[in-house]
Amino acid sequence: MEYDSHECDVLVIGAGGAGMRAAIAALDKGCSVIMLSKSVLGKAHTVMAEGGIAASVANVDSGDDWKTHFRDTIVEGCYIGNWRMAEILAKEAPGAVYELERFGALFDRTTEGKIMQRAFGGHTFKRLCHVGDRTGLEIIRTLEDKILHRNAKVFDETVATSLAKDGDRVVGAIGFHMRTGRFAAFSAKSTVIATGGLGRIYKVTSNSWEGTGDGIALAFKAGAELSDMEMMQFHPTGMVWPPAVRGLLVTEGVRGEGGILYNSKNERFMLKYSPEKKELDARDIVARSIYYEIQKGNGTEHGGVYLDIAYKGREFIMKKLPGMYEQFKEFSGVDITKDRMEVAPTTHYFMGGIRADPESCATTVDGLYAAGESASGLHGANRLGGNSLADILIFGRRAGEHASEHAKGIAAHHISRTDVEREAGRIMRYLDGHPDAKSPYLLTDRLREAMQRHMGIIRDGEGIRKGLGIIKGIKSELIGVGVKGIMDFNQGLIECIALEHMTVLAECMMASALEREESRGAHARSDFPKKRQEWKVNIICVNRGGKVSLSHSKVPEPPMELAEIIGEERYA
Ligand code: FUM
Repeated sequence: MEYDSHECDVLVIGAGGAGMRAAIAALDKGCSVIMLSKSVLGKAHTVMAEGGIAASVANVDSGDDWKTHFRDTIVEGCYIGNWRMAEILAKEAPGAVYELERFGALFDRTTEGKIMQRAFGGHTFKRLCHVGDRTGLEIIRTLEDKILHRNAKVFDETVATSLAKDGDRVVGAIGFHMRTGRFAAFSAKSTVIATGGLGRIYKVTSNSWEGTGDGIALAFKAGAELSDMEMMQFHPTGMVWPPAVRGLLVTEGVRGEGGILYNSKNERFMLKYSPEKKELDARDIVARSIYYEIQKGNGTEHGGVYLDIAYKGREFIMKKLPGMYEQFKEFSGVDITKDRMEVAPTTHYFMGGIRADPESCATTVDGLYAAGESASGLHGANRLGGNSLADILIFGRRAGEHASEHAKGIAAHHISRTDVEREAGRIMRYLDGHPDAKSPYLLTDRLREAMQRHMGIIRDGEGIRKGLGIIKGIKSELIGVGVKGIMDFNQGLIECIALEHMTVLAECMMASALEREESRGAHARSDFPKKRQEWKVNIICVNRGGKVSLSHSKVPEPPMELAEIIGEERYA
């Protein structure tokens, strides 16, 4: 079999904000870098963080500082977020924003010419530095510009299907180029996973087709510990109509700029659920409030609630939210400067993922690093909007730097022909052409239906058990899955691989959700409606011979000076 063979110091799998920032850091350290992107370069979920990047630069609210940002992150993460990660994020976010500006990013400005900031749910102050409602896009554009001028090898439309190992150490990855179907070995001294989240595991999501949790599944199969797999964030506002765009993000920036939620009885229902913070409470609370209103029969014709920003006037909206104006005009024929939007919760961000060290982003497997949405720990049970954009820059850089240090200390290992041929054989069996082959699309539909129904905004033990049964059934059917065609640009084949990953991850998510017998942040169980002190733990998932094994890890206590910043714990 012919295949390509590449070697580098640092392999970065994933080319969103975290992957690009890791690659830049590794290049700065003098390493040779290969970056793989499953999609075309620049098309990343990072662009779906529209409303801003959280950093306490205090340009609009002078009272803000890193301590308040740190406290907000821990408190709204419901006390299971890693304190050291939150401290690093809060302290380094302003520097990351100014660095981005030096890289060439353009931000909206205050009248004095400082970077403009807006309010977002759960943030005490106006903290979100932004570019209208296209902040993530501006970040990707900036990082992409920066990387294309450097000496990195970038392979887009290239899928990593497994991590290569030498004993206990990860030594790169094996995959193939989608356009040609040609296999490739990417031997690397260090490997960074930055493949983002897994929203596509649900039916209704803001994630586009790439978000199938590939890197998290690869790491799990390679023996890395995962944590907080029960913690899926439902963004309160996604589009509901027309059906083709159901789930598409309606930025929190709308509520940050004054957007008001109403039910079909024209009641501003957030006054009832959260009298103080109203529309700007944390995402878990606003998403659940919308869900309850819809369940009570107070929803709109298409199963959502109304979001009104029209009262602010056309000039304001066109300046602050031009992307939302275009999105609604184009997709649903609604002019948001005149009419209300229809919105409902949509799966948006995964707080769980690969367990990574706060300082270095090293995973529990030698040679493997993780950053961004595919890593876990920072956001606890509920991420604050805008923290993910700071996360990808700060921890992306750290992952790239530490992966480089690791690479400098070790000799290269060449991925063997035997390993490549074994992996190619495993992938090509999907194309065997068996007449009774099962369609990956049908199984994927079943999986998404099970996740939506049994792992939604409100769960219970009975439902999760049913869901687990369905996922285990799908797992047993994977062996018979196949598609027609050849290796070159075969979308069905990509679907088979994604299904493999999503099945593994759905099992981890459901097993963890069943284990956590309480409600905390995004994990709300109707059979255990209260937060419980004994569950102040992270649930760890590890692969034991193809089976999901769970354990509990006590959340590390912060040092006294940080505990004082956090203050009294709330047990609502
Ligand atoms: O609503 C938004 O603009 C999303 C931001 C985020 O997820 O951080």
